[in-house]
Amino acid sequence: MPATDPFNVVFLGAGNIMFGSDEGPWNHSARFEKKLGDRFRMLAVVDPNLPRVHQTIATKRTDPAVRHAYLNTEVYGTLDDLIAAYKGKEDTIRVFVIGLPPAFRGGVTTGTDFELRVSKAFPNAHLFIEKPVSTGSLEDAFKLGEILSQNIPRIVSVGYMMRYLRAVSHVKKIIDEQKLIVMATNARYACAYPSCMKPDWWDKSLSCGPIVEQATHFCDLSRFFGGPVDLGSVQARALEWNEPAGKLTKIHPGVKEETIPPENRIPRATTAIWKYKTGAVGHLTHIVALQGASYSCELEIFADGYMFIIEDPYNTPRLRIRSPLSDEEEVIVCKDDDPFLEEVSVFIDAIENKDNYIVRSPFIDACETYALTCAIRIASERK
Ligand SMILES: NC(=O)c1ccc[n+]([C@@H]2O[C@H](COP(=O)([O-])OP(=O)(O)OC[C@H]3O[C@@H](n4cnc5c(N)ncnc54)[C@H](O)[C@@H]3O)[C@@H](O)[C@H]2O)c1
Repeated sequence: MPATDPFNVVFLGAGNIMFGSDEGPWNHSARFEKKLGDRFRMLAVVDPNLPRVHQTIATKRTDPAVRHAYLNTEVYGTLDDLIAAYKGKEDTIRVFVIGLPPAFRGGVTTGTDFELRVSKAFPNAHLFIEKPVSTGSLEDAFKLGEILSQNIPRIVSVGYMMRYLRAVSHVKKIIDEQKLIVMATNARYACAYPSCMKPDWWDKSLSCGPIVEQATHFCDLSRFFGGPVDLGSVQARALEWNEPAGKLTKIHPGVKEETIPPENRIPRATTAIWKYKTGAVGHLTHIVALQGASYSCELEIFADGYMFIIEDPYNTPRLRIRSPLSDEEEVIVCKDDDPFLEEVSVFIDAIENKDNYIVRSPFIDACETYALTCAIRIASERK
C-alpha cells in the first residue's frame, strides 16, 4: 500500500536552489511537490529575507496543484526562532533541506555549525544538504561528517544530483557487470558565464572560486567512477583574470567585478590532473568562457575495451558507449531525465524504507570531493 500520511519538510534557505530561478533547472520545492504529491507539507521556511519568502509562499498558495502543501507554512528569519517555536514538538519535522550559502555551514565552530545546531535540536530529522559541503576548514567538514554519521537512523544526503543521472546509472551498471576498473576520467565543464549573476560567485573570498563552487559536480562525478584520489598527486594551472587571454566581455551588468579585490577575482580557465589510488589518472578542465545560457559539460570514462562519454547533463543528457563488441559507438539519448527529481526521490525512499545505502552521496564522501576541489584550487594558485 503506498503511504498516504503527511510528509513534513522544513526548508532552511529560500533562494534559487530551493524555489528555482532563471539560472538553471534546480528547484527543490518543485521536486518535493512532484515526489510527495498530496502528502507534501512545507511546515516552515527559514531565511532572513522575510519579504521574499512571504512572497514565494503566497505565490505557491495561488497554485491549486500545490496549495495544500503551503497552506500552513510558517516563516522564520533565523534557525533559533524555528528551534524556539518547535520546543516540545521537534519530531513533527521529518526532513530539513539545507540550501543556504556554504559559508554558514559545513563546520563545527560558531557561525559555520548550522547542520550541527539542526541535528542537536532535531535529532530524529533527516537532512538533505546542498553542495559544496563547506567553504571553510576541510578538517572541520570531516569532523562534522563524523558527527552526522554517528546517528545511524538519520539519512543524510548531499546534493550531487549528477550521480542520479540515468546515463551515470547505466555506466555504473556496465562497470559492475563487466568488473571493469576505470583507467582514466576526463572532464570538461564550460559554463555560460553571463548567466552567473551572483556577485559572490565571482569573488573567491566568498564562494571559494569556480572549482569548489561549480566544477565540484564534475570532480564528484569523476570520483564516483575513478574512486579515491591521491590528493598529493594533484597538479593544476589556471588562466587568471588579469592575463591577456583572461579578458571577458559579457559579465552580467549586475556583477561589478572591478569592485572585487584583485586577489579575490576568479580564474577564467583551470586545468588539473591527478592520480586515483588505483593508479588511474584524472583530468578536469573548467572554463568560464561561453556566452548565451547553456553550459557545455562532458565526462569521458575509459576502461579496458570501453569508452563512456556522458554529454550535456543539464539539458538532454546523452551517453556514448564504445565497447569491445564494435568500433561503432552506441548513443543513448536520455530524454526527460531529471536527476534533481531522482535525488529527492531516492532520499525520501531511503527515509521511508530505512535504507541508507541507496543514497549515492553521503556527507563524508562529499567531504572527499570538497578535499579534491580544494587541492585543485590550491595547486592552481601555486606560483
Ligand atoms: N545542486 C545544484 O545544481 C545547485 C544549484 C544551485 C545552487 N546550489 C547550492 O545551493 C546553495 C544555495 O545556493 P542558491 O543559489 O540557492 O543561493 P541563493 O543566494 O539564491 O540563496 C541562498 C538563500 O539563503 C539565505 N540565507 C543566508 N543566510 C541564511 C541563514 N543563516 N539561514 C537561512 N537562510 C539563509 C539567503 O537569504 C538566500 O535567500 C549553495 O551551496 C549552492 O552551491 C546547488
